[in-house]
Amino acid sequence: MTSESFSSRNPRSCFWTFSLLAMFAGILLSRSPVQAARPSGADIYYLRCAVCHYSDRTEKKFGPGLKGLYSRETLVNGKPVNDQNLNEFISNGLPGLMPGFRYTLDQADTKTLIEYLKTL
Ligand code: HEC
Repeated sequence: MTSESFSSRNPRSCFWTFSLLAMFAGILLSRSPVQAARPSGADIYYLRCAVCHYSDRTEKKFGPGLKGLYSRETLVNGKPVNDQNLNEFISNGLPGLMPGFRYTLDQADTKTLIEYLKTL
């Protein structure tokens, strides 16, 4: 083997090593742990709301059952049922009756939760 053939192989193996590393880095980066850790709307509901609200009926537990919430005209505070009013309601709660979740749930979680409430 001449030194010429050796030096002509080297850059190529270097290229393949680099490509493989780039591929693995891509696989690792595409699985962002932050996204995987996001809870579903149902998870949030069972963790934060189910203690006081049934999800499968309208009967009262501690608060009213939330089945069919989006087919109701108004919330208990008299405001129409829509994403914005519900977001405010969940964030603020009701003094002495329902805790406000503004410090427990961020906006992304609250939106995910509201999408879940629409399916009840
Ligand atoms: C400590 C118990 C408690 C928890 C926890 C709780 N709530 Fe409530 N919630 C209540 C009570 C009590 C009422 C009814 C207040 C009234 O009748 O004036 C209510 C009312 C509501 C209403 C209005 C229902 C209607 O028919 O107008 C919605 C919507 C609601 N809660 C959503 C939630 C969501 C979503 C969560 C979880 C993030 C949650 N609540 C957690 C006690 C709770």
